[in-house]
Amino acid sequence: MNGDSDAKAVEVLRSGGLVILPTETVYGLAADAGNAQAVAAIFEAKGRPRFNPLIAHVSDAVQAETIAVFDDRARRLAEAFWPGPLTLVAPVRDREAVCDLARAGLDSVAVRAPGHARARAVIAAFGRPVVAPSANRSGRPSPTTFADAVEETGFAAAAALDGGDCAVGVESTVVSVLDGRLALLRPGAVTREEIETVAGPLDAGGEGHRSPGRLALHYAPDAPVRIEADQARPGEILLGFGPGVGDPAFSLSLTGDLREAAANLFRRLRQADRMKPSGIAVSPIPQAGLGEAINDRLRRAAGFVG
Ligand code: TXA
Ligand code: MG
Repeated sequence: MNGDSDAKAVEVLRSGGLVILPTETVYGLAADAGNAQAVAAIFEAKGRPRFNPLIAHVSDAVQAETIAVFDDRARRLAEAFWPGPLTLVAPVRDREAVCDLARAGLDSVAVRAPGHARARAVIAAFGRPVVAPSANRSGRPSPTTFADAVEETGFAAAAALDGGDCAVGVESTVVSVLDGRLALLRPGAVTREEIETVAGPLDAGGEGHRSPGRLALHYAPDAPVRIEADQARPGEILLGFGPGVGDPAFSLSLTGDLREAAANLFRRLRQADRMKPSGIAVSPIPQAGLGEAINDRLRRAAGFVG
């Protein structure tokens, strides 16, 4: 499977089409954030409920501040983690550049400057914000390889860019900076500790509940997922964590490394699912650092709320 060129992707964005866009976290399904018809096509392709707003991807903090209103803490966070896997939710400044449908009618907008070289090149050449939800169909595991992205929503894209396997493997951390409050809406690649070091304490409680898209069953393969498993039951595939746990081909990390486990998470879930097992069991993952994001995705894949 051959991918398209950056130039083709920019041309497709300009004409209101959809693009499979690699980022460092997961593959996205991208469109011109200001084109309501193109944005509608994203919701349609993903089967995504329209109350769930999209992230606007920008080149840098300067472009971000043309569409969103940043306070001091938002600026510090952007400076510390951009380009990279952090999304900031802030009051919207430009309601045309990121259309109502993309924001699900909210007065806030989610923005991020991705770190992947090809995403950066396309966004810079396009010159305007690009919305890009993860390229999976709604509720399914996010794609972290080109082949998985094309399999999920390639049918709806007029261009698809091959950016290799995603280095991070879990989605960006979503932090809201609204009304002087700082809240973690979705744990992700930038850890809670890293956020607090730069911006001070996050609000306690309520995490995940103010992001409209945090559906109970999410990131789920077809096979049922059983978390915190010691070993596989008959018919199950075990995604192990640490040395000597389960089939090494399905291990999240043989050395017990959380970065490696995050990078492998969705890929292994999808690989295991293709074998049509009776279930997918997953070893316990420590909750520290990146483990919070991994466990968040796993709990939702298993059908537990928050
Ligand atoms: O890593 C990522 O963030 C990937 C790559 C492609 O950039 N994108 C991604 O997009 O994960 P998506 O659409 O799958 O997740 C966006 C999340 C959803 O949970 C959505 O509800 C939340 O961000 N969100 C977007 N705008 C928001 C807003 N104004 N207020 C609260 N939550 C918002
Ligand atoms: Mg998603």
